[in-house]
Amino acid sequence: MAKERIGIMGGTFNPIHQGHLTMALAAKEKAQLDEVLVIPSGNPPHKAHTAPAEDRWRMVCAACAQESGLTPCRVELDRPGVIYTVDTLSILREKYPKAEWFYIIGADTLMELRNWRRFEEVLRMCTFLVCPRATDAAPMALTEERHRLEALGGRFVMLDLPPMEVSSTDIRQALERDQPTSLLPVTVREYCGIMGLYGMTQRLPQAEAWLDRLFGALTVKRFAHTLAVASTARSLALLHHLDAAKAEAAGLLHDCAKCLPLREQQRIARAHGLTADTGLMESGALLHAVVGAYLARADYGVTDADILEAIRCHTTGRPGMNRLSMAVYLADAIEPTREAYPLLNQVRLMAQLSLERAMTTSMEGTAGHVRKSGKALHPATLETLNWLRTLKEANGPSI
Ligand SMILES: [Fe+2]
Ligand SMILES: [Fe+2]
Repeated sequence: MAKERIGIMGGTFNPIHQGHLTMALAAKEKAQLDEVLVIPSGNPPHKAHTAPAEDRWRMVCAACAQESGLTPCRVELDRPGVIYTVDTLSILREKYPKAEWFYIIGADTLMELRNWRRFEEVLRMCTFLVCPRATDAAPMALTEERHRLEALGGRFVMLDLPPMEVSSTDIRQALERDQPTSLLPVTVREYCGIMGLYGMTQRLPQAEAWLDRLFGALTVKRFAHTLAVASTARSLALLHHLDAAKAEAAGLLHDCAKCLPLREQQRIARAHGLTADTGLMESGALLHAVVGAYLARADYGVTDADILEAIRCHTTGRPGMNRLSMAVYLADAIEPTREAYPLLNQVRLMAQLSLERAMTTSMEGTAGHVRKSGKALHPATLETLNWLRTLKEANGPSI
């Protein structure tokens, strides 16, 4: 059996950005790696502007959740004190004794390799995949250094990639000034905003406790989705003159019960008399909204009726639902990390123009999909759809 080929990408990831993701994915493809471990460093001593390790870890998790083959790894976070690459490699080689190791670095790091602790040992432990940097000023010096390291037993593969230059400092400055940057995954930017990292104004003061709880309660994929929904709900609220903080909070908590087993959701629903609807009680796809609204109040301390209502009706809708609930419902359906489905682009576009119209299209799509799969449509969805159609008729084409 061929050895598993595992790449390593280490760094502070302060914060993780598109440059890191592009480099890891390109190295994975070019070197035919089975996976790349993305390894955030612990809290470096005396380094200003570095976000706490657990925040950087969650952002790495959220960013990697959307990319297949990128696996966040806590090996450097779970050890106290300073940890050197030679230690990390030793631990990993012990954990995966049959793997072949590839360390992904930029060309600038190649020039500094001999400053690494016990670097000659490191050279024997892995092959280096070297990504070009736009600032590679002296290619001759690079080649010479590579040859010197090869003479010591180092193995290097120079990856043929367009040079990438993304500066974490520039990104942090953009965040501090609240300027847009396409260099951050939407989930990472949202995390920074609600936590108030890198000089951003913290948008949700309760966020710290909420994110702690959500990160423990959800899968990383669901956690990333949650951040993307919060971001999209906020944008829709701003666009349609709704309360952005409420929309963002509801987006963040809308799936807080989603990862509980159905039986546990049913137990909570029964214990607190949340619903008598048997159709709802039997469906994990729907029940988590009702249970989520309960948990948002009981565990997350939310008392705002609009936020709770938006969470409660995000799966089936409700006739008469308010526009804030519509924004959250739609954000769930169109957030940017969503896998494509037939009406996605249409709903995305419509949501910019009219929440009511986008809701109608989205719910018609859901109804068609449910019918096609041979399942019964929940009556609340049908009633909501009929209600939305009356709105459309009453208000004509301008809605
Ligand atoms: Fe949901
Ligand atoms: Fe969701």
